[in-house]
Amino acid sequence: MAKRIRIKDILINPKIGEETLVKGWVRTKRGNKNVAFIAINDGSTIKNLQAVADLEKVDEGLLKLVTTGACVSVSGQLVASEGKGQTVELIVSKLDVLGEANPEEYPLQPKKHSLEFLREIAHLRPRTNTFGAIFRVRHSMIFAVHKFFHDKGFYNLHSPIITGSDAEGAGEMFRVTTLDPSQPPKTDDGQVDFSKDFFGLETNLTVSGQLEGELGALALSDVYTFGPTFRAENSNTTRHLAEFWMIEPEMAFYELEDNMDLAEEFLKFLVQYALNNCMDDLEFLNQRVIEEEKVMKQEERSELSLIERLQFIIDNDFERVDYTEAIDVLKNSNPNKKKKFKYLIDAWGADLQSEHERFLVEKHFKKPVILYNYPKSIKAFYMRQNEDNKTVRAMDILFPGIGEIVGGSQREERYDVLKARIKEMDIPEESMWWYLETRKFGTAPHSGFGLGFERLMSFVTGMKNIRDVIPFPRTPGNAAF
Ligand code: 4AD
Ligand code: MG
Repeated sequence: MAKRIRIKDILINPKIGEETLVKGWVRTKRGNKNVAFIAINDGSTIKNLQAVADLEKVDEGLLKLVTTGACVSVSGQLVASEGKGQTVELIVSKLDVLGEANPEEYPLQPKKHSLEFLREIAHLRPRTNTFGAIFRVRHSMIFAVHKFFHDKGFYNLHSPIITGSDAEGAGEMFRVTTLDPSQPPKTDDGQVDFSKDFFGLETNLTVSGQLEGELGALALSDVYTFGPTFRAENSNTTRHLAEFWMIEPEMAFYELEDNMDLAEEFLKFLVQYALNNCMDDLEFLNQRVIEEEKVMKQEERSELSLIERLQFIIDNDFERVDYTEAIDVLKNSNPNKKKKFKYLIDAWGADLQSEHERFLVEKHFKKPVILYNYPKSIKAFYMRQNEDNKTVRAMDILFPGIGEIVGGSQREERYDVLKARIKEMDIPEESMWWYLETRKFGTAPHSGFGLGFERLMSFVTGMKNIRDVIPFPRTPGNAAF
């Protein structure tokens, strides 16, 4: 019995004349009364393999079961193809139907389906060209993340998923408990008594691996985490998930500038990796975006194609802009003066919304932007305070079409300053004692950032909704599959 060969491997190295065994799912079947052409896809590549069945040699009843979505095993001789669209094809000598897909019921017929409809059948959407391409690119990007840091001598650190602290202090956490929700134990003052809970304290799913990453950096110098993070923000946007993956490098002895340099190099590396290794899928996605934009108004279309946008990131230095300067630009901008922004910028200290971030990137600087030195009032407690007492050494990287893709900072390494800030922001100090101790024992300047993996994926694939770049999206009201 011949060994199954993946379609990707057949196309890379076609062994013309050899008996070849292929297994996969039927995309289409067409033909005439003499011959049937079956397009098979096994997910190893966006490309299908065409199997050619001579109706005199292949059982007609069996061939009837070869419908879109059915799983088949086909063997036969590989020959050079004279047809358009493929270089080789398989002349069927043996056909088995491993799994039928009744055409009356199978929802993925060979026609255009909306992304909204495909989200409702997330169990089947990996079988479409679009989602096959996305998930293959996603794998490549995961691999590239590890390659980048490994080659730089960073160590990967697993930060915990269940945690007792709120790293971002935003209070948007999912509780983890084994207490009976209808009858939780209570303390004397009527509060839920979490000391009786599984871990003996109140715990949640982590919003970020940063704080643990910092512990690692203050021992191993250069570390990174890459894990799932969870946020119960009730925002139904095209850029937010309740469960998303984040890459968080943390480096001892790095200041804010070094942090920006690393983040810019990292993003360029990832985009270059996609261009070098995922071109078949990117070309398909590029075409998809062109089709999608055809029905859009001229002003909503992108100036550059998807592949040009990727190349643009690599070819251009990111613009580094102080928050104070950005506020001036925004205050004096046309959409602000003409009250086109939903949130008008009137004073220093305003938090930036995605409309402002995109204005800066797409209309004003026309490049990716690294905004730094934000007001401390709108940023997390752990960021290093500047001498002006008003701003912190934060940096966000803003991308076209996406807005914020990276958030990071130099960390507050001074024990007294950090302790005072924790108090000022009403963060329970008892739960942070271990974090504070790193500033008491052998503290060092250090910095890090977080890249939202799905925001990167949206950028690289050109998918406008973040729900379409993760296999099984979690958003308010959605956790099936
Ligand atoms: O800016 P954020 O909240 O930063 C942190 O969590 C820091 N602890 C990172 C660090 O310094 N180590 O989140 C970082 C990135 C954002 O820039 C964004 O790309 C992504 O995570 N992100 C989300 N992605 C999808 N859905 C959400 N709800 C997201 N919230 C943040
Ligand atoms: Mg942020």
